[in-house]
Amino acid sequence: MLLHRLSVFIAIPILGVIGGRIPVIDGVIGGVSESPDTVEPQLFDIAATTPGKLRVVENSGVCETTPGVYQASGYGDLTATQSIWFWFFASRKNPDTAPLALWFNGGPGSSTPRSQLTLSLGITRQTSYISIQPVGVGFSHGDLKVGTSQQAAADVWTFMQIFLSDPRFAKYQTNNLAIWTESYGGHYGPTFAAHFLAQNSAIAAGTVQGLNLNLKVLGIGDGLTDPLAQYPGYIIYAGTNPYHPLVSGTVIAHANSSWTASNGCRTQITACYNGGSNSVCSAAQSYCNNNILSPLAGIYDVYYVLATNPDPYPPDITSYLKSVASKIGAEVTWQITNRNVYNNFAATGDWMRNSAPDLETVINAGVRTIVFDGDADYILNFNGVEAMVDKLNTKFTSLYQQQAFATYKVAGQTAGQFKNAGTFSYIRIYGAGHEVPAYKFGNLATGQAAAQMFNQIMANQSLVST
Ligand SMILES: *[C@@H]1O[C@H](CO)[C@@H](O)[C@H](O)[C@H]1NC(C)=O
Ligand SMILES: *[C@@H]1O[C@H](CO)[C@@H](O)[C@H](O)[C@H]1NC(C)=O
Repeated sequence: MLLHRLSVFIAIPILGVIGGRIPVIDGVIGGVSESPDTVEPQLFDIAATTPGKLRVVENSGVCETTPGVYQASGYGDLTATQSIWFWFFASRKNPDTAPLALWFNGGPGSSTPRSQLTLSLGITRQTSYISIQPVGVGFSHGDLKVGTSQQAAADVWTFMQIFLSDPRFAKYQTNNLAIWTESYGGHYGPTFAAHFLAQNSAIAAGTVQGLNLNLKVLGIGDGLTDPLAQYPGYIIYAGTNPYHPLVSGTVIAHANSSWTASNGCRTQITACYNGGSNSVCSAAQSYCNNNILSPLAGIYDVYYVLATNPDPYPPDITSYLKSVASKIGAEVTWQITNRNVYNNFAATGDWMRNSAPDLETVINAGVRTIVFDGDADYILNFNGVEAMVDKLNTKFTSLYQQQAFATYKVAGQTAGQFKNAGTFSYIRIYGAGHEVPAYKFGNLATGQAAAQMFNQIMANQSLVST
């Protein structure tokens, strides 16, 4: 039932969104803890794991209820003590040949089903799709060692090898593959995609054994990719976003001086970029989020500035997921955000590292790439994201820079503004918060603009108004 509703109304909120967001540490959004609390790993039955293989529950009847449409959920066991949870939904149309979209949520250390089901599941389902949760998050379990985007990329690549080697899923080996992600996915998306491409080259050269991953599309929504380009966006957006100022001019001026000060945020991120150690990058995260990101939010919800904090929308689905856990083969309690994983990432300063070079590699390799952003999101606002895009140096950059934005129309109605350049596109979607497909604008249905965007990109087309 749920899916029927989702696919008819393109409504994402029920399954699409959960509160697994960027943690608030000692009152600071995305802060770095002085004394990281450690959460004991949840107990699970190691004897039951099957290293290098999948354990699968097929057609649980949860979520997908369309007769004859295949779904599966379970674990890819990287090792006896590292199990990655996945949830796979076959396309409702041409499931054997439809592209396969992977969805990763951000965090870091946040679980997937927030916008997860949004882009593919909730929308049209002409794509098979698989949501994957890094170890320690959601229903995944095991060693909580991962602390960088590169380590997460290696785990996900290994998971994909296991998944596509399983006889049930081997038929997808040559289908077109897409990565869709958001938020911290501004790091994950480029890093995972670049790692997949590098592994493909190594496999072709005979230096790595494995399956080629047929990556054709990368989609990044409201993402953190290039902090040096993006942090000034907080100062601009807090003062002059399309809706209302978030804080007083005094607060903005103070944040601005934290940006420009001699050992301020700009200097610290620059030091991180220039071969900075983990502690340099971690200190930059702490300083910039304490002095810029957090104070400039004012009383507003950082994910949707039309609401004050905390915005009850989109609703939390934790209790729903707990209620279906055993049916879908989950072995541990659902964890929206894992503090251990977040703290590992905060300790390496991964947040403040620059993923733009990986994004450039992926774009230049011909992977169709879209960056999108909801204009009501503060935490990864369009001012910052557009500055990041403007700074990219790819084979499509000059074409991109020559253009003005065009209005994006959906069913004749204005929904945003965009540019296409080669196989790269950018779009700002009006009225949308952080989880772009969960919002509506004007007379359009919830997620309708995001659905049109998703379908065009998955069909390997540039964005075009309808
Ligand atoms: C920040 O400070 C710089 C230099 O003092 C100034 O040029 C800029 O306009 C300020 N930005 C904002 C948003 O206030
Ligand atoms: C996608 O379109 C581009 C540009 O038209 C083309 O070069 C590329 O081969 C297409 N990719 C696929 C998977 O069809």
